[in-house]
Amino acid sequence: MSLYAHITGWGMAVPEQILTNDDLARQVDTSDEWIQSRTGIRERRIANGDESTATLAVEASLRALQVANLDPMDLDLIIVSTSSPEYIFPATACLVQDRLGAGNAGAFDLLAACTGFIYALNIGTQAIRSGAIRNALIIGAETLSRLVDWKDRNTCILFGDGAGAFVLQASPERGGVISAVMRSDGSGGDLLILPGGCSRMPATYETVASGKHYIQMNGREVFRFATRVMAQATEEAVRKAELTIKDVQLVIPHQANQRIIEAALRSLNFPMEQCVINLDRYGNTSTASIPIATCEAIQQGRLKAGDTVVFVGFGAGLTWGAAVAVWSGPQPVVRRMLPLRLRLYARLRSWIRRFLRRIDAMIWGRHNPPI
Ligand code: ACO
Repeated sequence: MSLYAHITGWGMAVPEQILTNDDLARQVDTSDEWIQSRTGIRERRIANGDESTATLAVEASLRALQVANLDPMDLDLIIVSTSSPEYIFPATACLVQDRLGAGNAGAFDLLAACTGFIYALNIGTQAIRSGAIRNALIIGAETLSRLVDWKDRNTCILFGDGAGAFVLQASPERGGVISAVMRSDGSGGDLLILPGGCSRMPATYETVASGKHYIQMNGREVFRFATRVMAQATEEAVRKAELTIKDVQLVIPHQANQRIIEAALRSLNFPMEQCVINLDRYGNTSTASIPIATCEAIQQGRLKAGDTVVFVGFGAGLTWGAAVAVWSGPQPVVRRMLPLRLRLYARLRSWIRRFLRRIDAMIWGRHNPPI
């Protein structure tokens, strides 16, 4: 029996704190006029001290699980796509798993920069279609504001923080994610890079003093690459789904730059009115931008059950990709999810597990004295 991966839940979370172009113009040599005309961005959201990639991911996930009416214990897999994880390890996905109380789920992080959500969506879909799992939670979450040099006008104007999540569920009915393409070209890795702080260049006084722990970008080259691959990936994914671009009702692109999106749609001969753009309010939230834009499209009634939608993105790596989905809409309500109760249950579960681990260690220590 063929299985399909339907998108049955979705949720987003963005910080409340807004940073406008005028605010930025007080920090670096730029202007609202320059930023708007070159990128389309007016403002972005910036995480406060209590917010992080995991907290935003958990908020978005709780909303997605609520829409899907799915208990976290029914999740088999959690993938967090992020370039701004809480730590190198443990994976942010494991923090999310613990905070959701998803006791039966495997969890890992995926790093494909701004294309990460497309990659994660495809991996989750393939795991469902193979019959290996039934329910997956796919999250794109970022706090790139923590990795940006706020004195570098080339990059600090672009990025914002946020998270978005999809629930994927197995069903024999045709629909959900029906095709995807994932591509990469590591020869362009230096065009968008965060060089310091990992194994290639461990953090030292010198790496920090010279700002190697910040994002570095060749904007012009990334721009040229992006305009080329967005259209290519869309065409490939549509062809793989045995459709044509005329069958597509909505394109939800990675929200990096309005001019990149316009150029890609022009070469696809696809109308702008059928494209979702919200980068004016959030900037580039990297891997979170596609699920956030999807949530807003649904709120605005632009995406309905049965619609064919294309998700398309590009990013550091270089990476790019696209996915075609037949929109499923939420499942009939079986039981009402209560996020507050879920959160309390998850916290209690985590506390009990830590406590039991400590007791276990004490007993083990008594029976295995140091030699
Ligand atoms: N304010 C004012 N002037 C600026 C600013 C700024 N914020 N930033 C750059 N400039 C100046 C440059 O110094 C340059 O001056 P010069 O001609 O005297 O050297 C001039 O403006 C033009 O610079 P360009 O880089 O040619 O400007 P461009 O039109 O290409 O726009 C931008 C720059 C917005 C960065 C664009 O190239 C872009 O969007 N590139 C893609 C970036 C992107 O999408 N990155 C994310 C990828 S996704 C991921 O994986 C995270």
